[in-house]
Amino acid sequence: MPEIKAYIFDAYGTLFDVHSVMKELEELFPEKGESISQTWRKKQVEYFFLRQVMGRYKPFDQVTRDSLVYAVKENDQTIDEQQVAHMLESYRQLKHYDEVEEVLKQLQGKELIVFSNGSENMLHPLMEFSGLKPLFTEAISADEVKQYKPSPAAYVYALEKAGVKREEVLFMSSNGWDISGAKSFGFHTAWINRSGLPVEELQLEPDAVYQDLSGILKW
Ligand code: LAC
Repeated sequence: MPEIKAYIFDAYGTLFDVHSVMKELEELFPEKGESISQTWRKKQVEYFFLRQVMGRYKPFDQVTRDSLVYAVKENDQTIDEQQVAHMLESYRQLKHYDEVEEVLKQLQGKELIVFSNGSENMLHPLMEFSGLKPLFTEAISADEVKQYKPSPAAYVYALEKAGVKREEVLFMSSNGWDISGAKSFGFHTAWINRSGLPVEELQLEPDAVYQDLSGILKW
């Protein structure tokens, strides 16, 4: 296996469970929590794709707010500003997956970077709240260059911050669109396939596929 000098991790979906807000959603919208949570994530990703392609960048907190409002409306519900603020606060307190801490502890001493489309005002409070921050070298946001993953410009930024060569990076994500973007860019890639999905039909096979993050200890 090639020598890896920097491990770069996606955040939402990879380290943190975006559906851990379902309880709060169910309290606000009984019987609709799961449907709203699924649509919320789908639209959140769709909106930052669309904004990147249209050249109409807005930060992740705005896109997360907008996609929540859409998901609520699609479920024939209404949400007020106070409830939106409450849900965005919950998004700064997402649960991290069970194996994350143990895996990170075994990687201490290596360069460990979080690289997320999350805006700084979403990502950093989440890193603090979760207690994971001290286990990483740093957490960087695509908002620093206003280019969303999977655009190459986003990965260029992460590579510059890592200070290593492209081929010295192992990139990990649970999101098929993100691991495809990282592969296209030239990183080594480990897809954390938490949902047991098929590989995307993009002719960009990940170098390794693991069910959860502990698989990377085999790398
Ligand atoms: C991240 C999610 C959006 O970039 O995949 O953390």
